[in-house]
Amino acid sequence: MQSSSQIQPSGFAADVLKGLSAEPKFLSSKYFYDDEGSRLFQEIMKLPEYYLTRAEFEIFAEQTPKILEAFNAENSPFDLIELGAGDGTKTAVLIDYFLQRATNFTYSPIDISQEAVDALSEKFNAEFPHLLMKPKTGDYFRILETLKTESQRRKILLFLGSNIGNFNQEQAEEFFRNLRTVMNENDLLLVGFDLQKDPRVILLAYDDSQGVTAAFNLNLLARINRELGANFNLENFSHYATYRPTECAARSFLISRKTQTVRVEALNQSFDFKAWEPIFMEISQKYSLEMINEFAEASGFQVVQNFFDSRQYYADSLWKPVTTR
Ligand code: AVJ
Repeated sequence: MQSSSQIQPSGFAADVLKGLSAEPKFLSSKYFYDDEGSRLFQEIMKLPEYYLTRAEFEIFAEQTPKILEAFNAENSPFDLIELGAGDGTKTAVLIDYFLQRATNFTYSPIDISQEAVDALSEKFNAEFPHLLMKPKTGDYFRILETLKTESQRRKILLFLGSNIGNFNQEQAEEFFRNLRTVMNENDLLLVGFDLQKDPRVILLAYDDSQGVTAAFNLNLLARINRELGANFNLENFSHYATYRPTECAARSFLISRKTQTVRVEALNQSFDFKAWEPIFMEISQKYSLEMINEFAEASGFQVVQNFFDSRQYYADSLWKPVTTR
């Protein structure tokens, strides 16, 4: 750790500097999830418009036997590893069923937030006293690298919630390729993808009538105020969501409602906003089955099986590594 105040800003500060200096301006949605942002995301998941969570929950609740069969047809022990576990509500359905069937498995939630991992561990320890849990905190790939050699058991990686949607095409492919390198031949990967559907349904999921999604976006400005000593006036920005069917992508922006200057103390710098100037905040990519197949193929995987909800709003896609000899 460096302590000099003269050093280049790093992490959050550096990314804020980069984004607010860019044309057009942008901020990264990966910074949405401080304590307040995580709380607001919990609220989003309860919104009537936000169908994603319920669709994936339906898949897990209705198709548990099929999922276990796909994970473990040979009935050999496995390690279930969840990347970015969140509150674990969906995974709890699987765990409960696996335990009922006396399945021999361990569960490792992995998250960059120690708080999130601790909360989930406590909850699951109480709910499932017989669950063998090995929670990990830190960088996904570094942890997976150690797990690759640590155990000879089959690893089943879970990357749920359509979290992949926050990456652009290139980043998503790189993410999957990196996962491939830390997986053994017999391992599996289950990825949640939000599917293409009526654009109106998608748009409403990111433009809810209660304004929770707006608050979720605005919280990143509040976080910059809190952590970097900025003076964003949240009332001078409004949330604007779009969905472009040609790109299958929902995007969120915060729009500066007037000409204004915002000071960021930690960067020792001010940023000018023109009236109606946008800050690009988040992409939430939607997928077709073709896109899912192409992703798998491009990153060294093969689709084993897709699980859908009854409305075909969402898919959990099970992938296995392709072995090139
Ligand atoms: C957690 C990335 C899946 O993009 O749908 C929810 C985040 N943003 N509402 C999504 C989010 C606005 C969410 N993911």
